Parts: sequence; C-alpha cells; structure tokens
Amino acid sequence: MNIILLGMAGSGKGTQAKLMAKKFGLTHISMGDLLREEAKKDNELGKKIKEIISKGELITNEITLDLIRKKVEGNFNNIVFDGYPRSLEQAQALDAVAEVNFVISLEIPDELAIERLSKRRQCRECGEITTDKYEKCTKCQGELYQRKDDEPEAIKKRLEIYHEEVEPLKEYYKPRELVHIIDGTGTVEEIFEEITKIINNK
Ligand code: AP5
Ligand code: MG
Repeated sequence: MNIILLGMAGSGKGTQAKLMAKKFGLTHISMGDLLREEAKKDNELGKKIKEIISKGELITNEITLDLIRKKVEGNFNNIVFDGYPRSLEQAQALDAVAEVNFVISLEIPDELAIERLSKRRQCRECGEITTDKYEKCTKCQGELYQRKDDEPEAIKKRLEIYHEEVEPLKEYYKPRELVHIIDGTGTVEEIFEEITKIINNK
C-alpha cells in the first residue's frame, strides 16, 4: 500500500504522516526531510539544495526521485509520501516505479498555513513537529528550532508553488478515483481519525 499526502505548507502532512506510519506500519518518506538532510552535507549538491529550499523553490526532479530511491533501497512499497510528488513530472515519475493506492489532500486556507508555519518548531534530535508553545521537545527534551523557510518571503513562494503545481495533481489522480479531500482545519486527532477511516474502508 502506498499513500500520497498532498497539501500546502503547514497543512499538517508531516504531523499526519508520522501518525500514519506508526499505525499502519508504513515507511514515512518526507521529501523535505530528505532534502534538509542532504543540505547539511558540505558538498556542491548540499549547498545547492540549501539555497533552493531557503527560497521556498522546488528542487529538480532528478535529485528528488534519486534521493527517495536510495532511501527505500529501490523498494517502492508500504510508503506514505509526504511532499512528493509536487509536479506533474514527479507524479509521472512515481507512477513508473510505484503503485499509488490513496491520494489524501489536506486542505486549509492560506492564512491558516501562514499562522501555523510562523509558530512551528521542530526537534533537532527526534524530528518531532510542534509549536512555539514549548521550549523543549515534549518527547525527548531535545532542542527546538525554526525552519529557515518558515520566514514570510519563503512561505509566500511555497504557497504560490502549491497553487500552481501541487493542487492540479488532484486532477491527475482523479480518473483513478484515488483522491480523498480532507478538511485540514480540524484538530490533529480529528484529521487522523478521518484518514484512518479512509484507509480502513478500502
Ligand atoms: P517540506 O518540508 O515538505 O515543506 P512543505 O510542503 O512546505 O510542508 P511543511 O513541512 O512546511 O508543512 P506540513 O504540511 O508538513 O505541516 P506540519 O505537519 O509540519 O518541503 C520543504 C522544501 O523542500 C520545499 O519548499 C522545496 O524547496 C523542497 N521540496 C520538498 N519536496 C519537494 C519535491 N517533491 N520537489 C521539489 N522540491 C521539494 O504542520 C505545520 C504546523 O502546524 C506545525 O507546527 C504543527 O504542529 C501544526 N499543526 C499540524 N496539524 C495541525 C492541526 N490539525 N491543528 C493545529 N496545528 C497543526
Ligand atoms: Mg512537513
């Protein structure tokens, strides 16, 4: 079973993907996390990725699929894809290597995305996603940090790209009746319950 999570920045893809991976025994592939890991490396590719991410722009298709391929060791099964695909080209590339069983689109208004992202904090140690309500990670007491692309200019760019490139992907998957639209403005628990129902009903 493979699941794609679509949704704009701040819609809760990462938050829900972690819960889904745990409950359904899936591998969580966060394209953003893979790229941020790569960006830490002190080489040409790392520097290039870091620069593109900080502007909120998209990384090239060759780099993205290649990183996923390495991460899953060529086994494209039992995956929840968080942030991939983000363009028609990526969706076609994924179709060539994996079966897609569910496309879940988490939908929120732009204003809520901006509000959530400006308050988001992530744990350096365990990757837990949380908010600025806390000073330390509530799971492991690790240090919390704010992502560089959670600044106003980069957020604006990411929302633009979502509307231009990612939103139309719902049309791409529609003929296969794979798309489930979820109101992402509810609580984390409410949204997870809805996702669970969709997966269990199939
Ligand atoms: P990526 O890391 O994927 O960023 P994104 O898509 O912009 O999404 P976010 O991670 O910001 O949001 P999210 O939906 O995961 O929300 P979260 O759960 O954290 O990508 C970063 C960059 O990498 C891209 O801009 C691009 O440069 C590059 N990239 C990535 N994929 C690529 C691709 N395929 N091709 C090319 N380039 C690519 O939640 C947000 C906040 O809200 C948190 O604080 C959370 O606690 C809170 N929250 C979550 N759910 C709720 C709720 N229900 N109620 C209240 N608060 C909530
Ligand atoms: Mg995320």
